Amino acid sequence: MDSSTIRQIFLDFFRSKQHHIVPSAPMVVKNDPTLMFTNAGMNQFKDIFLGNKDGKSKRIADTQKCLRVSGKHNDLEEVGHDTYHHTMFEMFGNWSFGDYFKKEAIEWGWELLTEVYKIDKSRIYVTVFEGDKSNGLGKDIEAYTYWKEIIPEEQILFGSKKDNFWEMGETGPCGPCSEIHVDLRDDKERDLVAGRELVNKEDPLVIELWNLVFIEFNRQVDGKLAPLPSKHIDTGMGFERLCMVLQGNTSNYDTDLFQPLIQAIATRSTIPYGTEPKTDIAMRVVADHLRAIAFAIADGQLPSNNKAGYVIRRILRRAVRYGYVFLNFHEPFIFELIPVLVHQMGDAFPELKAQKQLIESVIREEEISFSRTLEQGIQKFQQYVDSPLPQPPPLKGKGQDIGKKDPTSNIIEGSFAFELYDTYGFPVDLTELMAREIGWTVDMEGFHKGMEEQKARSRKASTTDTSDWTILDTNAGMTTFIGYDSLSCETTISQYRSVKTNEDELYQIVLAETPFYAESGGQVGDKGWLIKGEEKLEIINTIRENELITHLTKTLFTDPAGMIKAQVDEKKRMLTADNHSATHLLHAALRQVLGSHVEQKGSFVDENRLRFDFIHFSKMTDEEIEKVERLVNQKVRENIPLHEERAITPEQAQEMGAIALFGEKYGEQVRVIRLGEDFSTELCGGTHVSATGQIGLFRILSETAIATGIRRVEAITGAKAENLMYENEHLLSRISDVLKNPKDILRGLQRLQEENLQLKKVAGESEKLNQTLVKEELKRAVKEIHGISFLGAKVDLDMNAMKSLAFEMRDEIPDLFLVMAAESNGKVNLVVALSDSLVEKKKLNAGQIIRVLAKDIEGGGGGQAHIATAGGKNPAGIPKLLKNAAEMV
Ligand code: SER
Repeated sequence: MDSSTIRQIFLDFFRSKQHHIVPSAPMVVKNDPTLMFTNAGMNQFKDIFLGNKDGKSKRIADTQKCLRVSGKHNDLEEVGHDTYHHTMFEMFGNWSFGDYFKKEAIEWGWELLTEVYKIDKSRIYVTVFEGDKSNGLGKDIEAYTYWKEIIPEEQILFGSKKDNFWEMGETGPCGPCSEIHVDLRDDKERDLVAGRELVNKEDPLVIELWNLVFIEFNRQVDGKLAPLPSKHIDTGMGFERLCMVLQGNTSNYDTDLFQPLIQAIATRSTIPYGTEPKTDIAMRVVADHLRAIAFAIADGQLPSNNKAGYVIRRILRRAVRYGYVFLNFHEPFIFELIPVLVHQMGDAFPELKAQKQLIESVIREEEISFSRTLEQGIQKFQQYVDSPLPQPPPLKGKGQDIGKKDPTSNIIEGSFAFELYDTYGFPVDLTELMAREIGWTVDMEGFHKGMEEQKARSRKASTTDTSDWTILDTNAGMTTFIGYDSLSCETTISQYRSVKTNEDELYQIVLAETPFYAESGGQVGDKGWLIKGEEKLEIINTIRENELITHLTKTLFTDPAGMIKAQVDEKKRMLTADNHSATHLLHAALRQVLGSHVEQKGSFVDENRLRFDFIHFSKMTDEEIEKVERLVNQKVRENIPLHEERAITPEQAQEMGAIALFGEKYGEQVRVIRLGEDFSTELCGGTHVSATGQIGLFRILSETAIATGIRRVEAITGAKAENLMYENEHLLSRISDVLKNPKDILRGLQRLQEENLQLKKVAGESEKLNQTLVKEELKRAVKEIHGISFLGAKVDLDMNAMKSLAFEMRDEIPDLFLVMAAESNGKVNLVVALSDSLVEKKKLNAGQIIRVLAKDIEGGGGGQAHIATAGGKNPAGIPKLLKNAAEMV
């Protein structure tokens, strides 16, 4: 069975059990502070489990793109070294929301694996939760009883909280679980050791295939388990492992999901897969990681220097590093493998196909910039190893202080290894490898100490302490949003909690009904007020955590219970709406002017301005920018009324021609915003103008690149755009004033430039003349001391002029020993120059001499044997310096 068939069979099976099949949610999570990436299929249903949202369907199944590289579920370090872990993988799942429970989940799981996929029953082992005293939980007798009806008792094992109690993160939905394992060893080995002995023992051939979780609790901040309003089923089966089992392999990487990639890597590196463990590991790492990176970019997450972007960057760098060290890839190579991935998975995941060019160019750019980092690190490493003594203190800036070397032994100090890693992004395993190659070792203990200290620093910098919710209303969480139609209402607080950070203490308030728009889809959250009698709380922001709309305040009401009034800041909301609708017009105009390859990659809209990121592979020309601007303003003048479809199915939206974005999560009902039937139709949850005329005026401020293939336009609307127009006009009239109001400003400016050029020429000539005069005067001051033509002088020239003068004098005066000092802005510039005869015959060295002389001016410097320069901060020392120079001669 090929992998596509295996996928289809899973979905068909659960469809036949009345499950609604939904698409995978994006892998990059947007509105959940407890989670960066989707780490399990159930993530997108978290709010249904918690009771914050009603699910439209009670039974759902899907295949979900997951990424386990951070937080509670992190498999990164295992990947490649074993044959069954991945960073990115597909998780098959079936869900019941308060519908069926353990019995059906167990029976259907068994039916699918043994009757449909036909896995040998005797090779299957299942685990059941043994209970846990600390949480007051008993044995899962119920699950055990159902299993006993279908599988021999010796194939059932009890497991501890670690393996049989599944939790999404530190907090959130959780419950006991029952895992299904499969034993893939050959019969001889199975006779020797029973499979049950190897369950959950990290044996590569006795592995977990499917996890059936019986979600019943919410793990609270205080560590306690609160029962949920209903009981749910959450199952997760590793697709790659299932393919391995059904295709008769013993490694996930031998399936048709990975082999094309592995073979492409092997061909390019000219090392066959299977040659030796370390090259095999590297190939698996590259094959795995490139999938993770490509899917993340397709979901809108570019590599960057913070949060999710940084995790993606690190995964990419890990792949580059394995390729560099073990497979001899010293040029970008990962981006070239993307066509193989797209060919293989593009049908199941159209986002890969649609964004192939972007994925390739982003990866290529990252590879190039990381190879620069690697080179820099290698250079620093070489300097460290070569320098015979501890490095002298740095001259300028901190960049050169790369740690001190222990001069007595061939050990790379931990602090240096850490500095390489921290400042230059140089991976420590590479430092270790390079050290090994020259017979050195790395003080890893010192390195880890540096890492720990850094972690402690960043922990300290970002501690957030969130309390559990205080619930005033049992319907807590199910907020009705009325903000499309009203900006105020009478309502109640349903729950609240405090959030302490290093800087602030805030409260998050959830209302039964709210007119406040919560930050999402690029639009900022509403501000405003909550009013109760005489008390007025300022809402400083409204944010969304998954489906939960929370209002942020600095204070609480003395008594939070009872009726309150919620009032949105109207002015801010209106200005924001101008910018949001203008963003839609801009998007449509860009597609018209540049082409339909323009695809939204991010946006930001507040009351001041708008920002729009999109795919386009070259810089926009001035004409294109003007065309786009004019088109948007034309649509503004047409005063197109807003057409809104508040709740239609995604299929209906598609029929309307709505553009959906990859990386966004859409529910079973979507909202469509149309501004002009044949102009702009988008899926959008934001707030908009009632007709485009309200926008007034639209001006583009800038057009820049934020990554290869991604452009950013920043723009303003309304009064802000009008102000800009006047500012420009004022600027022009001020320029005209300065130019003494010529008839033609442009001509006036050109004339000024011409004059300037002319004057510069004259000034240059006069400077030259000055230098010649100075030179003649200096020549007269040369003194003959022991056959050396010594000249020590204070001059009034800049460093460049001094240097060129020094070269000229060297040419003109034999056996010259020249010391020239000049003062500028309270500092000293110093030049020492020697004729070649002194360097060669008398073995003098200007670099050494200047180091001695510069002490008098409290400075330092260096250079070559025939010429050296230095800087100092004590001009008062110049006479003494010149005297010392003469004495030295
Ligand atoms: N949430 C469970 C897991 O990730 C089952 O889907 O293993």
